[in-house]
Amino acid sequence: MTEMVVATNEAPTGEARAAPRRRRRAAPAKTAAERFGVLPRPSLEYTPEVAAATAHLYEKVAHVIPAIEWPFHAPYVKAINDLKKVRNAVILAHNYMTPEIYHCVADVVGDSLQLARLAEKTDADIIVQGGVHFMAETSKVLSPEKTVLIPDGKAGCSLAASITAEDVRLLRRRFPGVPIVAYVNTSAEVKAEVDITCTSSNAVEVVESFGVDRVICLPDQYLARWVAANSKVKIITWKGSCEVHERFTGEELQAYRDADPSVRIIAHPECPPDVIAASDFAGSTAKMIDFVKHVPAGGRVVLVTECSMADNVASEAPQVEFVRPCNLCPHMKRITLPKILDALLEMKEEVVVDAEVAARARRAVERMIHLKN
Ligand code: 13P
Ligand code: SF4
Repeated sequence: MTEMVVATNEAPTGEARAAPRRRRRAAPAKTAAERFGVLPRPSLEYTPEVAAATAHLYEKVAHVIPAIEWPFHAPYVKAINDLKKVRNAVILAHNYMTPEIYHCVADVVGDSLQLARLAEKTDADIIVQGGVHFMAETSKVLSPEKTVLIPDGKAGCSLAASITAEDVRLLRRRFPGVPIVAYVNTSAEVKAEVDITCTSSNAVEVVESFGVDRVICLPDQYLARWVAANSKVKIITWKGSCEVHERFTGEELQAYRDADPSVRIIAHPECPPDVIAASDFAGSTAKMIDFVKHVPAGGRVVLVTECSMADNVASEAPQVEFVRPCNLCPHMKRITLPKILDALLEMKEEVVVDAEVAARARRAVERMIHLKN
């Protein structure tokens, strides 16, 4: 484990905070609704036709959605899947989306790195982001010619909210010459100020890619601690944290282990160090899913992360029994089937990123995506 410094946003002695740079935000000539048109609301009745068209999808979620609730979801599922074809749209869904989104309407599912890679490749005209705002911004930054919609613009992230572009400029001045890595859980304006982005799936490789002995890795102090524990590079970090993962404690995990010493505990690197220390494995949401798939039949697993993960992976790893001390991400949970339907019908809420900010942020994200390991 190497040394760690947690920086703050106090200006260095004698240095005033620079005034924010003024940028002209060119408003799009027309809104997405004006460009694509608003479509009439389809019937949301649960008819025999809807039941037949969605039966194969219900099979994937029957373990978590009681049959009595399916007539509520099914009409939305059918309407959304029909509309995707009409709009030439894809739905990119993060692993924390609820099962009826993840299994029934998503075209692509994955962790932040997988979603960023796929956003770059899709040839759809419209991307609907099943996830939080920074993920939708990343899609827009990578595909500026596409229309990116987020079904609820208030779906934020405590990490993205913990740091501003001005904070990053301050760190640059305080630590001249030290490369800056930003977790993708940041705004496009923050990404525009850094050298490269990382996700929890590649953070160690990204930090080591500079070949230097000191790197700033922001804004998640816990992810940074985890990187420092797995690398010789000295990490300077920020005071951000994930409001979902910071609530787990090593003590509660120890109680699960005491109750069943064979239990496997898998944590997300956004968890505090005592939680990681009490776990058998730490990795991105995609790496956690991969780990679970390889647990032998009869194994019991504690997934130390957002609640929908265990629900979603349960159908892909039926041999495993999940113990669920999960926490809900209130931001991810803002995305629902009714809001996805509204997004596709009314073409809202469009994600707009200033062209100059997007160009600089794109450099940082593409540098990560194309990093040779
Ligand atoms: P992943 O990149 O591991 O999917 O994490 C994103 C996230 O927001 C976890 O809280
Ligand atoms: Fe942000 Fe944490 Fe929610 Fe992920 S789980 S989106 S890091 S608040």
